[in-house]
Amino acid sequence: MYTKKQQELIQYTRKKVIRYFDKHRAPGHGSDHATRVASWAVKIAKAEKSNIFLCEMAGWLHDVGRVPEHGSDGTKSHHEFSYEICQDWFRNDSEFKKLTKKEKLILLYSIRYHWNNAADKYVEAIILRDADKMDLFGKIGIKRTEEFFNYDKHKINLNIRLRANNAFWIRTKTARNFFNKYKMFDPIYKYELKNLKSQIKSVEL
Ligand SMILES: [Fe+2]
Ligand SMILES: [Fe+2]
Repeated sequence: MYTKKQQELIQYTRKKVIRYFDKHRAPGHGSDHATRVASWAVKIAKAEKSNIFLCEMAGWLHDVGRVPEHGSDGTKSHHEFSYEICQDWFRNDSEFKKLTKKEKLILLYSIRYHWNNAADKYVEAIILRDADKMDLFGKIGIKRTEEFFNYDKHKINLNIRLRANNAFWIRTKTARNFFNKYKMFDPIYKYELKNLKSQIKSVEL
């Protein structure tokens, strides 16, 4: 599937990202999330006949900005932090010389815009967003949201409401098939329904 050089770079990046998340806290977005997104990215890219290597790389790298975001004043998004960290790694870590200039640009674009559902310059950006979305649904999606908002019920409920929007923006046929096959929205629907029902009180005249 990969050339030797690509294999080496995937291994190197995987280790670098895991070490980075091991050293710093990023609730709901640690190396386990990066691992799952990289794995979804491979599956989607394979079926969509896209660049598997770049999609996997993007999956590993996309959320490193969650580290500086955690505990920051919130004025800069983690997407921008991820973009800047990867820019720095691509410029200063000689291992990334294995990437061409074009590959670096595709990765930086995909990483910077992994929140923007209209950023379609490269198919890899679309696949990264779909791969990232796969980890928003199902029981794992709820668990991650709870961790991220430190079990604040109000914030969790507001955020869970966005899942319908996230589901709408799944773009590739392959990701849509996974979403349907694994009934990924079911736990989200149940969670939201329970929350909504719990807030209905009887009305009186
Ligand atoms: Fe992200
Ligand atoms: Fe992510």
